[in-house]
Amino acid sequence: MTDATGSRYEPAVEAALGKLDLDAKTRLLAGQDMWTLPALPEIGLTSLVMSDGPIGVRGVRWTADDPSVALPSPTALAATWDPALARRAGRLLAQEARRKGVHVLLAPTVNLHRSPLGGRHFEAYSEDPYLTGAIGTGYVLGVQDGGVGTTVKHFVANDAETDRFTVNNKIDARPLRELYLAPFEAIVTNARPWGIMTAYNQVNGATMTEHHHLVNEVLRGEWGFDGFNVSDWMAARDTKRAIEGGLDVAMPGPRTVYGEALAAAVRAGEVDETAVDAAVRNVLRLAARVGALEGAGPVVTAYPAPLDGDALAREVARRSFVLVRNEGALPLAPGGTVALLGAAARDARVLGGGSAQVFPDHTVSPLDGLTAALPSGTLTYAIGAEPSDELAPARQGFELRAVCRDAGGTVIGAGSLPNGQVQWIGDDLPEGVTYEKLHSIEITGTFTPRESGEHAFGTRGLGAFTLTVAGRTLYDGVQEMGDEADPFEAFFGAPLERGKVALTEGVPVEVSLLHPLDQEHAAPLPGVMFSFVHLGPRRDPDELIAEAAEAARAADTAVVVVATTERVESEGFDRADLKLPGRQDDLVRAVAAANPNTVVVVNAGSPVEMPWRDDVAAVLLSWFPGQEGGAALADVLLGAEEPGGRLPTTWPATLADAPVTEVTPTDGELHYTEGLFTGYRAWDRAGTTPAYPFGHGLGYTTWEYEALELTPEGATVRVRNTGSRPGRETVQLYVAPVDDRVERPARWLAGFASVEAGPGESAEAEIPLPKRAFEIWDEATGAWTAIPGTYEIRASRSLTDTRLRATLTVEGTD
Ligand code: BGC
Repeated sequence: MTDATGSRYEPAVEAALGKLDLDAKTRLLAGQDMWTLPALPEIGLTSLVMSDGPIGVRGVRWTADDPSVALPSPTALAATWDPALARRAGRLLAQEARRKGVHVLLAPTVNLHRSPLGGRHFEAYSEDPYLTGAIGTGYVLGVQDGGVGTTVKHFVANDAETDRFTVNNKIDARPLRELYLAPFEAIVTNARPWGIMTAYNQVNGATMTEHHHLVNEVLRGEWGFDGFNVSDWMAARDTKRAIEGGLDVAMPGPRTVYGEALAAAVRAGEVDETAVDAAVRNVLRLAARVGALEGAGPVVTAYPAPLDGDALAREVARRSFVLVRNEGALPLAPGGTVALLGAAARDARVLGGGSAQVFPDHTVSPLDGLTAALPSGTLTYAIGAEPSDELAPARQGFELRAVCRDAGGTVIGAGSLPNGQVQWIGDDLPEGVTYEKLHSIEITGTFTPRESGEHAFGTRGLGAFTLTVAGRTLYDGVQEMGDEADPFEAFFGAPLERGKVALTEGVPVEVSLLHPLDQEHAAPLPGVMFSFVHLGPRRDPDELIAEAAEAARAADTAVVVVATTERVESEGFDRADLKLPGRQDDLVRAVAAANPNTVVVVNAGSPVEMPWRDDVAAVLLSWFPGQEGGAALADVLLGAEEPGGRLPTTWPATLADAPVTEVTPTDGELHYTEGLFTGYRAWDRAGTTPAYPFGHGLGYTTWEYEALELTPEGATVRVRNTGSRPGRETVQLYVAPVDDRVERPARWLAGFASVEAGPGESAEAEIPLPKRAFEIWDEATGAWTAIPGTYEIRASRSLTDTRLRATLTVEGTD
C-alpha cells in the first residue's frame, strides 16, 4: 500500500515545477501561517496542512474546541513492543487527520532516551535504537496506510531540552551511526516516510537545518530518502545555508528565511536556483502522495477499515502497562473492597505537555474506570497527597469564555474556553476578530467550587493583567519577562499567584482576567497566549496522608496512583530530578504500612525514583495512558486483561545511578562522552543493577522457554504457557559477542516477537536476525562492517532473564 519510491510521480512533479516562476517556488517553501503552505491554484495544488502529533491530531487550532483522540504516550506505545499495534495506532491517527483536513502529521519522535532527565523523554520511544526503529516503522506505515504523511523527528540528536535552540551536541561517528541515526535509518529504509523534521540543535558544529552532510549525503544520498524536509518550528535561521543544507520547508510563517528572502538570494546570485527546484520537487512529491496535487493520484485510494478510537486507546493502554513487581496482589481477588488513593486517581494525567498536547473530548480517570467496573459500595477514594502546590489553568468548576474588544471597548468577538488557557496561534482567532482590531481579551465567567476554603487565583504569561474574583481585584499590573525566561514563557513558564479568596462549596462566583495587548509583551509567534490559573484549598498534608492510610486499613486492597505533573515532564525544559513531586513518596509509605496489600500505579511518562518499591505488593507503570487510561487500568487490575508491557528503557533506582545525568551544555556544547554506552549498554559495562532492567515486565501467566533454533533467517523460539490463563509473551533476542575484538557493548537487542497461547499450549516466535546486528560503523573506512567471530544468541524474557542460548559464527565483511 505504501508508495516505495515516488518515481511514479516524477512526470507530474516535473510538469508542475515547469509552470512555476521563482516567486511561486520560493513561496511554496515557506509557511504561510503556523501550520500550512500556500495553495498554488495555477498548478492545481491545494494548501498542505500539518499538525502535531504524536498521540493525536491537534489540528490547526490549539484549543479544546476541536477535540482529537488521545492515545497513550510514545513511551507507552514502545512498551507494547508491538510494531503491528503501532501500525494500527498510525491508521487511527490518519483517520483523525483526514477528518480534520490534515495532510501531514508532525510525528513520530524517534530521538533516544539518552538520559532520564530529558524533558521530552515521554515523547520518545526507548533507549534502544532497534526498538525505537521498529516501533517508529510500524507507526509511519500505519499513518501512511491512511494516505497521510509523517515527519520523523527531530533529525537528529534532540535528546534533551536545555538550550535546545542552540546546543552543539558533540557526538563521535560510531555512536552517531549506531545509536542516534539508527532509528531514522531503519524507518527510512523500512517505511519510506514522506517527510522528516530537522531539529533545533547542532550536531558537531552545524545546525541541523543546515546540515549538508547528514541531510544531503547521509539521509538522501546513502539512505535514499525522497520525502520533504521541514524545519522544526522557528529553527531555520539562514536562507543560503538552509537551502544548501537540504532544508525544503521553513516553518512556521509568514516570517521565514524562505519566501521573498530566498527569491532575493537567487536573484542576487547567492543561491543557485537548482537548489530551490530540488526543494520544490520534494514538496510537490509530498503533495502528490497525499492527494493535494491535481492530476497526480494519491498513494492511497482505498482507506483501511475505520477504527474505533476509544477501543484502540484502551487496547494500547492495557498492552502498554508494565507490571514490574507483583507479590500475588494482582489481579485483584473478586469481591474485595478497594481504597483508591492519590490526586491523579481522580484528576488523571493522560498525556504529556508541550507541542504533544491534544484535547480529547473525554478522559477516563482511574476513579471513573474503577467506579464503573467494581460493584457499588466496594470502592472508597481519598486524595492522600497533592503532587503539586502550583496553580494550574482553571478547569474543574469553571465556565469560561474569552471576550475580545477593540480599542474603543466594543466587543468584536468571543470564543468558548474549556479551561483557563488562551492559546490562539496564527489566524486561530475567534470569528470576526483580527489582530489589527484586537485590543484586549477578557477571560470571564463563573466558578463553582467543589470544596469550601481559601482558593488561590493567578496569571501565567507576560504583559498587563487585571484579575477580579467575586468582586475583588486581586491584581492589576504588568508582568515582565524574568532574566532566564524562555520566549515561550506563556506556554511553559511558572504560574504566579495573585491572591486568595475564601469561597463556599457549590456557591458560584464571577471571575474575570482582563489582558490588554501591547507590542512589548507580544508572543514570539503571531498569537495570544496567557492563562487564568487556580489552586483549590490545600488541607494539611499530614492529615491527607493519615486519612488515606485510614481508608487503606479499612479495605482489602489499597491502590495508590502516583504521578508527575506538567511542570515536571514537558517540552521546553529538562527535569531537575526523578523524584515524585509533593508528598507522594510519604503517602505510599504510609499506605503500605497500613495495608500489606498495596498496589502502586505509576502515572508518569518517564522513570521516577520509587524508594518504597520493595515494600509494596505490586507496582504497575501506566505511563501517560491516553483518554481511556482509567478503563484500561480497571481491565488490568481486575484481571479482565493482563498487563502487556515490557520496559522500553531501564528504570534506575536513583538518578545518581543513571549512566547519563548531564544534559546542560558547557559553553554551548554538550559532549556525548559516554559514546556507545547509554541505557542498558552502560549499566552492563558499569556492572550496576537498576531498579528494573530493560525488557522487564510481568503478565498474569507463566512461561517456559522450550527450544531455540537458529535458522538462516534468524531464530525460532518455542515457548509454553505453563500457567492457568491465556497470555501473551514478548520473546526478546539479545546478541552477545563471545570473543570480542573491538570495543562493543556486552549485549544488545537484535530482535523480538510476541506470541499468544492458552494454558498448557505452546507457540513459536519467528524472529529475524538482521545483518546489522553483527556490524559496527567503522570510523576508518566510513562504512558498516561485520565483526567476525562467535556470538551467543540469547532468547530472553528481559535483558537479564535469559532462558535459552545458542551460538552463531559470523564471517567478516570482505
Ligand atoms: C517541537 C516540534 C513540534 C513543533 C510544532 C516544536 O517546538 O519541537 O516537535 O512539531 O514545535 O508544534
